[in-house]
This record gives sequence, C-alpha cells and structure tokens, in this order.
Amino acid sequence: MSDQDPDARTEPIGGTPTAPSVIVLAAGAGTRMKSKTPKVLHPIGGASLVGHALNAAYGLQPRAVAAVVRHERDLVAGHIESVNPQTIIVDQDAVPGTGRAVQQGLEHLDAEEPVSGTVVVTYGDVPLLSAATLKELVHHHEEGRNAVTVLTALLEDPAGYGRVLRAEDGSVLAIREHKDATEEERSVREVNSGIYAFDASVLRSSLREVTSENAQGEMYLTDVVEIARGHGGRVAAFVIEDRWQVEGANDRVQLAALARELNRRMTERWMRAGVTIMDPETTWIDVTVELAEDVTLLPGTQLYGTTVVHEDAVIGPDSTLTDVVVGTGAHVVRTQGTGARIGDGATVGPFTYLRPGTDLGADGKIGAFYETKNVRIGKGSKLSHLGYAGDAEIGEYSNIGCGNITANYDGVNKHRTVIGSHVRTGSNTVFAAPVTIGDGAYTGAGAVVRKDVPAGALALSIAPQRNAEGWTLQKRAGTAAADAAAAATETKPESSDSTQESDHS
Ligand code: UD1
Ligand code: CA
Repeated sequence: MSDQDPDARTEPIGGTPTAPSVIVLAAGAGTRMKSKTPKVLHPIGGASLVGHALNAAYGLQPRAVAAVVRHERDLVAGHIESVNPQTIIVDQDAVPGTGRAVQQGLEHLDAEEPVSGTVVVTYGDVPLLSAATLKELVHHHEEGRNAVTVLTALLEDPAGYGRVLRAEDGSVLAIREHKDATEEERSVREVNSGIYAFDASVLRSSLREVTSENAQGEMYLTDVVEIARGHGGRVAAFVIEDRWQVEGANDRVQLAALARELNRRMTERWMRAGVTIMDPETTWIDVTVELAEDVTLLPGTQLYGTTVVHEDAVIGPDSTLTDVVVGTGAHVVRTQGTGARIGDGATVGPFTYLRPGTDLGADGKIGAFYETKNVRIGKGSKLSHLGYAGDAEIGEYSNIGCGNITANYDGVNKHRTVIGSHVRTGSNTVFAAPVTIGDGAYTGAGAVVRKDVPAGALALSIAPQRNAEGWTLQKRAGTAAADAAAAATETKPESSDSTQESDHS
C-alpha cells in the first residue's frame, strides 16, 4: 500500500485486520476554563478529561496511541506519562489547527514504520466517549472501506460546530466550519464531533494538501474530507444518538454537566449490577470504584479512587470514602475515610475520620467521633466513642474505653502504641507512646500510661481523690450551687459519705 495512493483503501482488507492507531488531540489552550490547571487535566468521575480519552483509546486495543500536546506541555505530558506511560507524546509546533496536530501525530506514529490501516482521531477534552463507540466507528469505517468516517451528531443548537454537508446519496461532501459557513450551511443540524476514523494513507496524503486559507487561519483537519473525496475516496458519516459521548468540556459549566451525566451513567450501571442506591442524585461514584452485589449506598455517599465495597455492606448516609476497602456486611455511617480497610462485619461511624493506614479487623468497631491513622485493629476489637488511635496496633477482642488517646507525637517524633488482645481500657486512658500493653491487661479510668503494662495487670496512674468538705459554702457563698449544697446538708446533716473526709483510704 503506497502512501501516495489515496485509492489504496478500496482494496480488500486481507488477512488479519490490523489494529487501529489513535491520535488524541490535547494541544489546545482551553482558555474558557479560566484555570491555572490545563483543561484536559481537570478531573471528573475519578479521572482527568484526557485520562478518560486515553481509556477510550486504549479500549480499542490499538497498535499505538499518540497524544498531541502544546499548551502547558510539561504538565499535560507529565500527567499522560503517569496515567498511560505507553502513550507517545507529540509536541505540536507553532502552526495552529487540528490538521497540523494530526499531521504531526501521524509523523511520530510513522517514525518506526509507516502506519497502515485505520487511524482514529479523538479529543482530549471529550470525556464520555466510550471505547464501544470507537469500536463501532472503526467497524463501520472498515466494513464500508471508507477513506474517512466522521462521527457526527444531530444537535438542536449546532452553533459553533463544523457542519456536515451531505450529497444526495448520503455520503459526506465536506465539513464546513461555523465561521466559514454560509447562512444556508449554518442551518444544517448535523455536526462534526471531531472524532474520525481515517485510512492512514489517505490521511497522510490529504494532509499535505491542507492549507490555512480560512476564517481562522488554521490548518483544518476537516479539509481532509473534501480532499479525500476529490481523490475518489468514500467519506461517510456515522451518526451517534448519544450526544453526551461527543460533548466537549469547554468551560466549568460544561464540566459540571459532563460530570453529572457521567455519574448518572455510573450509578445506573451499578444499580443494574445489583447495587441499591437510594438516592442516585447525591451518590457519586468514580469510574475506578468496584462494588459487589447487594451493596447498599444511602444518600450523600461518595466513593472515590480505588474504593472497593464487598457484598451486603451498607454505606452512608453522608459518607466519603477514597481508596477504602469495605468488607462483606460492614456498616459505614457518616464517615470520612481515606486509604483505609474495613473488615467483614465491622461497623464505623457516625462522625468518624479514618485516615490512611487504618485497618479495622472483622467485626471490629470504630465508633462516634473517632479519628484513626496508621493503626491495625484486630478482629472483634472496639473503639466505640470519642478518641484518637494513631501509629498503633491493637490485638483481638480488646475494648478501648471512651475518650482514649494514643499520644503518638512527642513534638519531634512519632511513636507506636501496642495493645494486646482482650485488653480493657478505662475511659480517658492516655497512651504516652511508645508503650506496650500486654494481653488481658486493664487500665483504670483516666490512666496516663507511660510505662509498659504487663499481661493481666491493671494500670492505674491517678492520684488519690480528696474531698474538701464544705468548700462550696465557704468559697462560693451566695451562688445557686452553695444554696443547693446548704439545702442538701440541712436535710441530711449527718449524712454518712458526704460529711466524711474520703482521702483517708
Ligand atoms: C473542531 C472541528 C469542528 C468540530 C469541533 C467539535 C476543525 C477545524 N474543526 O472545531 O468541525 O465541530 O471540533 O468539537 O477541526 N487542538 C489541537 N491543536 C490545535 C487545535 C486544536 O490539538 O492546533 C485540539 C484541541 O485541544 C481540542 C480539539 O483539537 O481538543 C478541537 O480543537 P478546537 O479548537 O476546540 O476545535 P473547534 O474549533 O471547536
Ligand atoms: Ca471545541
């Protein structure tokens, strides 16, 4: 197949069809975002816009993917390399236009060996386009032995888009940019999505003829349509009904609309897969999240990143979990969690803050107003109310009393607290780390544990209590408390406990 021969695509595709190559355009400035972050790096649904575009591209199992960059080149290229390192980064030069971008992309793809077969072009700022749609486009293109197949959509308001001008027989004559179109051409509602399948050799040779003689002084990729047709190639349109898939994010209003629609698709997908979502409108699920059957998500739940939720778990209301694994049958109520594991049958919340490294064992509990970080909690152990557990290890079936704190930070370094199994700690115990509590040990209420506690010991660190008799009447005379104290003393003047010095014992 000669790259000079634009009719080469009319030859039957013999043998194993070659996989397509993909060029993702991401050089544009995206000024309408009004952001210091390049447009294609703005995230929706757990991936950047260009991340979504690359996911769709890689879904084609392509031979190669090239991404064309220019605006904020280093940031965009660095991001692409981090999410899809196989991607070939192509720098667009100062010549503007989609035609130039594709031409340079193709030159790079050709570098090792001239590309043959199908070249797919997509945009880095069109995040809902699916791999399935790209597969259909390629299939349609290759079946029809087309030179060019344009993915198009019928829009109520086509303003701004390139219009698809069709011949009597339905083939595509040209794509006319809005700024270059006549009144009559502007009345056409079928628009160019900017996503195409090209025959590689037709694309290569046609791009050589593209000029910048148009209203915007840019090399238009869309000119390839007329050029290829002029050389006898067939140009077809593949109309997509689902217009969201070809919608780009140009400003933050469109970004939010696309995010909302992507989320609608995610929640619907998971409901169809057996997840109960009580209020899909307030439930947000990243594309990277995994949910099992019979998971229940209550209103106001957001699941982000690599979060995985196993069967029968109930999450919410009002919980935000990022990179959290939730075990089978666990309950997580009003919780903010990041980088944590919650064991099977465990319960968390309400009003709980799980920080990275929290690992709660099966049937364990982290209750109300708890903060945890870098702590391994064994099976059946409970931290029920009001406390902080950080840089710690707790064995099995231990009960950590209300208000316990691991004082892990001495102002310079962090230290570990190690608590054994079947330990019972009194309310308001402070573990001044580093400290180790043996199996079956107890601590008294208010204990400040500065030394290791051997297995089976009771740790007490409080000073004996002394009662100063009559203190309120003497020191707070005339107050309601003094009056109450006086009344109580009058009615029970010889009352046993209250009149005795109790610090003798
Ligand atoms: C382009 C199409 C138009 C189509 C519309 C769909 C052309 C000439 N026009 O118009 O027919 O209806 O998309 O959204 O192709 N880009 C580069 N390098 C450049 C210019 C653009 O990589 O030099 C990238 C942009 O980052 C963007 C995409 O190409 O992802 C489209 O560019 P944009 O300037 O938005 O094209 P439109 O004028 O909207
Ligand atoms: Ca655009």
